[in-house]
Amino acid sequence: MTRGRFITLEGGEGAGKSVQRDRLVAALRAVGIGVVATREPGGSPSAEVVRDVLLAHGLAWQPLSEALLHAAARAQHLVETIRPALADGHWVVSDRFNDSTRAYQGAGQGVPAETLDQLDRMVVGDSQPDLTLILDVPAEVGLARAQGRGQGSDRYEAMDLSFHERLRASYRAIAKAEPERCVLIDATGDLEAVATAVRAAVQTRLGVAL
Ligand SMILES: Nc1ncnc2c1ncn2[C@@H]1O[C@H](COP(=O)(O)OP(=O)(O)O)[C@@H](O)[C@H]1O
Ligand SMILES: [Mg+2]
Repeated sequence: MTRGRFITLEGGEGAGKSVQRDRLVAALRAVGIGVVATREPGGSPSAEVVRDVLLAHGLAWQPLSEALLHAAARAQHLVETIRPALADGHWVVSDRFNDSTRAYQGAGQGVPAETLDQLDRMVVGDSQPDLTLILDVPAEVGLARAQGRGQGSDRYEAMDLSFHERLRASYRAIAKAEPERCVLIDATGDLEAVATAVRAAVQTRLGVAL
């Protein structure tokens, strides 16, 4: 059995990760590829419980505590969902993964990069994504989209603009530092234009015709 490919979608609030994850999964299935669609935080039974803990209202997690909870959830997500799916030959497409911790807990909330790198080596190790699509939009554009989505206000959506600008800068820096793994996608266009750019990146990088 050929191992499947692991794709992650990253970006700030309202960049379009969730809609583009669904579009990409549909495009892959349309050409006969078995795909597991997943997300972080969460993506497996125990990791979804940690998600509820992280998102519970009224709790003030310290940045390091939050990074540790994400790490625990990710370890479970890998063991319960991602690694078994890849071993079975399925592709895995995740709405957020380890770059979200670098951006949000690192650049956004000040946990030292070395601490996060150490955690990543322990938790993710060799199970790094084969391809990471970083959806890039100005912070104000993403926030306006997220507010228009109307799912109630997210804790991060309430943070000031400079927080969101640090996230964007962090994602752009990751894309620049790891060009073999990452593709920076201009996500300012309409849904269709971004979906086309996402499929093009997957075709080019992973050699599948979509
Ligand atoms: N390229 C786009 N142009 C206009 N609206 C978009 C675009 N991408 C996403 N949206 C809309 O913006 C909102 C946020 O998209 P979503 O996929 O939930 O973002 P994320 O998961 O990155 O926070 C949704 O209402 C979605 O339909
Ligand atoms: Mg989303």
